[in-house]
Amino acid sequence: MAQAARSAKPSTGKLDIRPISGALGAEVLGVDLAQDLSDDIIAEIRNALLDHLVIFFRDQDITPEHHLAFAKRFGDTVEYPLVKGVEGFPEIMLVVKHEHEKVNFGGLWHSDTTYLEKPPMGSILVARELPPYGGDTLFANMYMAYDTLSDSLKNMLAPLKGVSVSNRPRVQETRQERMADSAKVKPETVLTAVHPIVRTHPETGRKALYVNGAHTIRFDGMTEAESAPLLEYLFEHQTRPEFTCRFRWEPGSIAFWDNRATQHNPINDYHGFKRVMHRITIAGETPE
Ligand code: SIN
Repeated sequence: MAQAARSAKPSTGKLDIRPISGALGAEVLGVDLAQDLSDDIIAEIRNALLDHLVIFFRDQDITPEHHLAFAKRFGDTVEYPLVKGVEGFPEIMLVVKHEHEKVNFGGLWHSDTTYLEKPPMGSILVARELPPYGGDTLFANMYMAYDTLSDSLKNMLAPLKGVSVSNRPRVQETRQERMADSAKVKPETVLTAVHPIVRTHPETGRKALYVNGAHTIRFDGMTEAESAPLLEYLFEHQTRPEFTCRFRWEPGSIAFWDNRATQHNPINDYHGFKRVMHRITIAGETPE
């Protein structure tokens, strides 16, 4: 069942695309992201993203300007709403954990900013400084999470919407250090959006389970208490190990994920060491 849910086409173009797990994720070899890439190569990269949901590049040497130029080939870039970007590059978010810190930004399963009316289509994360071990990132395939539900549950979920908020305590904790040093909004700011529980990917036409434990607080029209049992089941189900892959970062590594069909979870297992990443997020559409 896991394999059937994924198209793992052999490479057909100039790029060498190597899947890293049965569920999702592929390394893309044979491209230098610091170059001005042709439209054909960009189209191949986009196809690889749609096929594998998260793609990885190794041994890249790119400046923030290159990072931004590459991201803009896939759409408009958007600023993270809650925390300021790096000096001179408002669209580049600093995802950092310092040696003395105990929490890591976004350190739980989530898809990005689903509390926005138009959550991003994807993000491109560049490793800038890595701990000697740990700090891997997990990704999960939300097509598989949907496909593996029973028909009865799929039918029940079909008309439902979920309410996402920016202030769930479990996620606020993971950004408390960055809100302390670089907040863009008052701490009490709450962003909210209502989205279908099952969304149809605008490019592939496939259905993906679109709830996440970081931001989805309840079903629209139900209380939190009424929603909790089924939501908790879905949160557990959607990150089953067989739906995931795990990426080991190295200097020069870059990950590009499709936020419409995946979730991610950076592992917080490197206390005492610094980890610095630059993230650029690409505009998305209202989920349908
Ligand atoms: C994030 O964008 O949620 C952070 C991912 C990571 O640090 O690996």
